[in-house]
Amino acid sequence: MDKFVINGPTPLNGTIRISGSKNAALPLMAAALLADGETKLDNIPVLHDISTFNNVIRVTGTKVLYEKETHSLRIDPSNLYYAKSPYELVRKMRASFYMLGALLGKTGEATVSLPGGCAWGPRPVDLHIEGLKAFGANITLEKGYVHAVAPNGRLEGGKFTLNPSSVGATVNLLLAAVKSSGTCIISGAAKEPDVVQLCNMLTQMGAQIEGAGTSELRITGVEKLQPVTFANASDRIETGTFMIAAAMHPESDLTLTNCNSNDLGLFTDWFKKTGTEVEFNDTEINVKAPDVIKPISIITEIYPGFPTDLQAQWATMMTQAHGETVVTDTIYTDRFSYVPELRRLGADIRIRNNSAVIKGKTPLTGASIMSTDLRASVSLVMAAMISGGESEVLRVYHLDRGYETLEDKLNAAGANILRVVE
Ligand code: EPZ
Repeated sequence: MDKFVINGPTPLNGTIRISGSKNAALPLMAAALLADGETKLDNIPVLHDISTFNNVIRVTGTKVLYEKETHSLRIDPSNLYYAKSPYELVRKMRASFYMLGALLGKTGEATVSLPGGCAWGPRPVDLHIEGLKAFGANITLEKGYVHAVAPNGRLEGGKFTLNPSSVGATVNLLLAAVKSSGTCIISGAAKEPDVVQLCNMLTQMGAQIEGAGTSELRITGVEKLQPVTFANASDRIETGTFMIAAAMHPESDLTLTNCNSNDLGLFTDWFKKTGTEVEFNDTEINVKAPDVIKPISIITEIYPGFPTDLQAQWATMMTQAHGETVVTDTIYTDRFSYVPELRRLGADIRIRNNSAVIKGKTPLTGASIMSTDLRASVSLVMAAMISGGESEVLRVYHLDRGYETLEDKLNAAGANILRVVE
């Protein structure tokens, strides 16, 4: 398992180009299955999670061509014959569960492994299942698989309210609803840019969707959907990650390119409150670090609130703020695995219920630390980059799932990261 050897402290200067969004690309890939012909997706990042999902899609007989050099995907479901997604692949990445809605919408039936655990947790999918039932699907759960059938081959339509609002459930219900024989209404729908972008692509394919970007989606089913060429969004979470990383060293002056600042929601407001200078210029964002980081507590919320995917990065930044802060995650209660690792670097941070309580500013000193999940891992890299001396960040395969050529991007901006292949 690869590790990063990181020497610090180093500021971030120069330019980093933001890659296409992982979380926006995955729904688009699933949507391509609904078309009669080959869809081309552009600005697709080269990531393990994309490769994993390619393999899940290929199992159905769909042709998938991953043109990494041009960051594009060609997906042609013309020969799709096997409406199933096996456990050994689905368990590798939760978003594989999007195959349920896609295959049900495409063929009128689907057999997809639960992503992990049972339908009710951990990381439940009960809303996905109950929503499809509300739209007319017959669903059975057997041996860890969800088997869904649309009587008469197409869902008849219906109404369902998502509580809590779920990105994944909104995606799955949209994928199943667009080729229904009636009207499907999703209340409490997710408003994340990833969902809006999916609605835009489906509409371009010929779907009839009202309310994209609001919490009430109204889908009138159609019989056919056309293949399209569609450009994926820039990764808003990668953008926020690098903005925070730049702010953590007082000599940083970093420009991010290929950004979409409109996708950041209220994050930017919180970010500016830390005293960091932020300048937006079309698809570029310039970040100049403050001499003193102001302590700003945050609470994660659904979009446009503070994103849970930037919670760990924010807590890491707050170890360098002058004062005490509380970082609370209302979306996931177990997303603090990075806390003990930051303590190994010397941070004064502890967990209190579904919050991290941080006292700064604490000088950080290099140590060996362990990655545990995607966003916790990048936070450890950020902390190591401003720690004095040498750190080792272990199990960086977590990073390769969601951050394209991370060390190359950071090193080009002044970091000192060596990937050691073990
Ligand atoms: C998506 O996950 C993202 N993943 C996550 O990013 C992100 O953290 C999350 O949305 C929240 O923004 C992708 O887009 C691939 P949810 P998803 O369903 O769809 C509860 C990353 O780091 N819930 O919106 O799985 C659930 O327990 C990943 O890139 C139910 O109760 O998240 C959670 O508390 C991590 N029942 C809340 O909803 C359900 O059926 C939000 O989960 C579904 C969800």
